[in-house]
Amino acid sequence: MIEPYIGFNQAIVTKRIDWTENLFSLRIKAPLTDYIAGQFVKLAVYDEQNELIRRAYSIVNHPDDHNETGELEFLIVTDEAGLLTPCLHMLAVGDELLVGKDPAGFMTLDEVPEYTRNLWLLSTGTAIGPYLAMLNDKSIEERFDKVVLVNATRLESELSYQTEIEQLKQRYQERLVYVRIVSREPVSGALSGRIPMLLKNGDLQKAAGVPLEKSNSFVYLCGNPNMVRDCSDCLNELGLSKHLRRKSGQFSSENYW
Ligand SMILES: Cc1cc2nc3c(=O)[nH]c(=O)nc-3n(C[C@H](O)[C@H](O)[C@H](O)COP(=O)(O)OP(=O)(O)OC[C@H]3O[C@@H](n4cnc5c(N)ncnc54)[C@H](O)[C@@H]3O)c2cc1C
Ligand SMILES: NC(=O)c1ccc[n+]([C@@H]2O[C@H](COP(=O)([O-])OP(=O)(O)OC[C@H]3O[C@@H](n4cnc5c(N)ncnc54)[C@H](OP(=O)(O)O)[C@@H]3O)[C@@H](O)[C@H]2O)c1
Repeated sequence: MIEPYIGFNQAIVTKRIDWTENLFSLRIKAPLTDYIAGQFVKLAVYDEQNELIRRAYSIVNHPDDHNETGELEFLIVTDEAGLLTPCLHMLAVGDELLVGKDPAGFMTLDEVPEYTRNLWLLSTGTAIGPYLAMLNDKSIEERFDKVVLVNATRLESELSYQTEIEQLKQRYQERLVYVRIVSREPVSGALSGRIPMLLKNGDLQKAAGVPLEKSNSFVYLCGNPNMVRDCSDCLNELGLSKHLRRKSGQFSSENYW
């Protein structure tokens, strides 16, 4: 049994999906936790010196699914030079780890301003995860005319959760638009390049078939901090401003590092 640690619960791996050699999902059985779709929690293991290594990971499954199954799901990319991800990458079904008791984060649907009719969910790599949790929220259909889900990866093989996204498209029909961007190989049906450039030249809006208008749009940016910075600049140039609790705006972000 893995040693307990203050602020953490013990958890056990129940399922693992390998999308590529270094991109994988873990489902873990963890005590019931109250969280909101879009939030993250810490995962941790002990290293060889018995030091606890802990990092934040977004929860991919909706709280309703957690209530039913008692499980939490995470999408993780391994950085071979990193401290925690090589350890997480070694976990197999039945292995133990620790999960933080306090989910956190403000990238949630209740933070999206009321005026929003078109919601843009822009992500690089693993940052599609929290959006999948949000997209399983019942309020999506009531609140938005269009939800544009964008995932930018280096390679086509890194576009994860294609079956689940197809099911969401079936459920929401034309309300949900999914745009794939692949930067390091040509892929039919996907845009090529990076999100900020594609926003700036309008190709992203064109591919989505949805205008990005200040009056009715809200944009979440999540993942690579350089993408978040470059997109924020671009959105400012397009006349949108950062959303603050004290001053309503049209975009907000979460950096993964
Ligand atoms: C709010 C929040 C949510 C996060 N959610 C996720 C998630 O759902 N899935 C996930 O894989 N990571 C996520 N991260 C990143 C995660 O917390 C770790 O930083 C990451 O897994 C690297 O840990 P490490 O100990 O292996 O590497 P470290 O020893 O901490 O080295 C970190 C280096 O890895 C790179 N890096 C870190 N995270 C990523 C990433 N996701 N994609 C690309 N490069 C990265 C950066 O270059 C960084 O300098 C999240 C981070 C935050 C702050
Ligand atoms: N993906 C892999 O094949 C691979 C292999 C070994 C290790 N890793 C490790 O895994 C980590 C994560 O890799 P990842 O591929 O998931 O994430 P990533 O490096 O953030 O790349 C994901 C997408 O973000 C784009 N991007 C990068 N900088 C951007 C910017 N300033 N503005 C807009 N878009 C930007 C990338 O485009 P560009 O392609 O143009 O950069 C790519 O399309 C890396 O840090 C690395 O340590 C990944």
